[in-house]
Amino acid sequence: MEVKTYTFTPHGDDRGQLIALEEYKDFPFSVKRVYYIYDTLAGVVRGHHAHKCLKQILICVHGSCKIHLDDGHDTAEVLLDTPNKGLFIANDMWREMYDFSPDAVLMVLASELYDESDYIRDYDEFKKFVASKESEK
Ligand code: TYD
Repeated sequence: MEVKTYTFTPHGDDRGQLIALEEYKDFPFSVKRVYYIYDTLAGVVRGHHAHKCLKQILICVHGSCKIHLDDGHDTAEVLLDTPNKGLFIANDMWREMYDFSPDAVLMVLASELYDESDYIRDYDEFKKFVASKESEK
């Protein structure tokens, strides 16, 4: 399966690093919401859902974590362990986040405001969603 990651260019100088992200330039959507996950306890797995519309970029701005992706047919695992790497997750992708280092801060840029009705939290429902999208093609 195709996994879309971005390597962002830091504006580094003798003071340190700075990364700036601009919508449609550094990633392909407009940001309506930002949230971040931190102080995650050992062994915790978050996510366990897909979305009907939402697109996201995940950036582990400190520490590391892993992302399990599932498009309904294939799966992939992505390690996020540097602040200059972004992972694009399309709406129709089941995702789980795990193996958080104790210092991990996972920042998410989201294309829509929070909307519980956009979530697909049941894996069988997700498989049906993928099948219905494919039958439309
Ligand atoms: P949850 O969906 O369980 O997070 P994850 O995808 O990491 O498993 O969200 C945890 C709580 O935070 C839940 O009560 C919903 C709330 N929440 C918001 O209020 N706004 C948001 O943008 C997000 C992502 C979650």
